[in-house]
Amino acid sequence: MIKIAVLVSGNGSNLQALIDANLSGQIVGVISNKPAAYALERAAHANIATAVIEHKNFPDREAFDDVMHQQLLDWEADLVVLAGFMRILSAKFVKAWEGKMINIHPSLLPNYKGMHTHQRVLNTGDLWHGCTVHYVTAELDAGQALAQGVLKVSHHDNVESLADRVHQLEHLIFPQVVEWICNQTIQVTSEGVHYKNQILKGPIQFCHI
Ligand code: GAR
Repeated sequence: MIKIAVLVSGNGSNLQALIDANLSGQIVGVISNKPAAYALERAAHANIATAVIEHKNFPDREAFDDVMHQQLLDWEADLVVLAGFMRILSAKFVKAWEGKMINIHPSLLPNYKGMHTHQRVLNTGDLWHGCTVHYVTAELDAGQALAQGVLKVSHHDNVESLADRVHQLEHLIFPQVVEWICNQTIQVTSEGVHYKNQILKGPIQFCHI
């Protein structure tokens, strides 16, 4: 059974969706860089081990990442899932978990890497928005996309409504992708990422209009 570790910084609604999904893998631990993250309560409520590793207690990014890395090894994690984890990771850490670490980002990557994605979508007047699950590489929000949830922006939308609608999509696609990794529907091979035994050429799309 695949052992999953989840990294969080905040509310943890995506962590909750993963807990509720009854994955065929096991969530073995949750790491937060913020002691007050509500995600920690969600984990504790589900009897999942937690670790608080506060980045501000470390002299630099690598020292913080080294402690996280050791915790992941202690839990024997096979898959690292970033679920609202709001820290940039060092190249060394990313390399150590290459092909085994995924993130969810609230935009249709490669559009709107970084922060404030909903506001930027509204500012541009885009018709489409959504979220992307992707492998984590050293470059921010740039690893191979596995799946995207797509929604149509309405003229009634504001930042709050978009955040809410994107969250709903995230809760649908993130557990699905994690499950596909657990049951090997998605696999990393020497030729690239396979989905259902075929090379994955672009992200699997989930549409919600
Ligand atoms: C999610 O919308 C996720 O896409 C975003 O943080 C939110 C966490 O919500 N992640 C990023 O912006 C990463 N760059 P949650 O704590 O309720 O799961």
